[in-house]
Amino acid sequence: MAKRVLHDRYFRQAKREGYLARSAYKLMEIDDKRRVIPRAGKVLDLGCAPGSWLQVLTERIGDKGQVVGIDLKTVTHDIGPNVRTIVGDFTAIDPAELVGEDGRLFDAVFSDMAPDTSGHGDDFMSARLCQEIVDRLPVLLRKGGACVMKVLEGGGTPELVKRCKGCFEEAKPFKPNATRDVSREMYVICKRYRPPRPRDDRPDDASPPGEDAR
Ligand SMILES: C[S@@+](CC[C@H](N)C(=O)[O-])C[C@H]1O[C@@H](n2cnc3c(N)ncnc32)[C@H](O)[C@@H]1O
Repeated sequence: MAKRVLHDRYFRQAKREGYLARSAYKLMEIDDKRRVIPRAGKVLDLGCAPGSWLQVLTERIGDKGQVVGIDLKTVTHDIGPNVRTIVGDFTAIDPAELVGEDGRLFDAVFSDMAPDTSGHGDDFMSARLCQEIVDRLPVLLRKGGACVMKVLEGGGTPELVKRCKGCFEEAKPFKPNATRDVSREMYVICKRYRPPRPRDDRPDDASPPGEDAR
């Protein structure tokens, strides 16, 4: 019985079309409807194993783009020459390692990460993980960039969406058709990032520029 539910039409379609997981169709639908994958862009895939989002991302960014992925697990499949994968914990890695040597911030950040638990409090852990992504966006995502994050709907979701609305021009929840009916997962789709202004370290009583010389 459980097997019949798991092996639904998206599962069979993924097998037929060579995608490593049925989640590929969620990202395709998100991009078809909301245009979040930048052609020829540099993109980050958080929680990238087994690799179906990496496949969709490489197909859609094209030969001139680059994809960086990170997961606790190894991606064993060879996705393509413009893909760099890292085995590690996103919450523990130095963001500079993700950005890489060229130092160019990402045009878009995608997260399909799911906390490794099942039971009470999953939704809060999932929202917490997304908050950790938003914390790091100033050093990962360029101004005007996009971010798509999976979150398990629950108590932490409204606060997350509110925070995203504060740092993106647009932030909306979205449930793709390929998400199973019983699942609480949804995606927060954020467009046009507005990074926080650089901190002003001048003391409160400092003279405005140019006044020192008077
Ligand atoms: C649903 S799977 C991702 C599927 C992937 N998008 C695909 O299409 O192949 C979720 C992944 O998130 C990863 N993950 C969870 N927490 C993580 C963390 N803190 N850092 C890196 N990866 C994490 C898990 O190891 C798991 O492989």
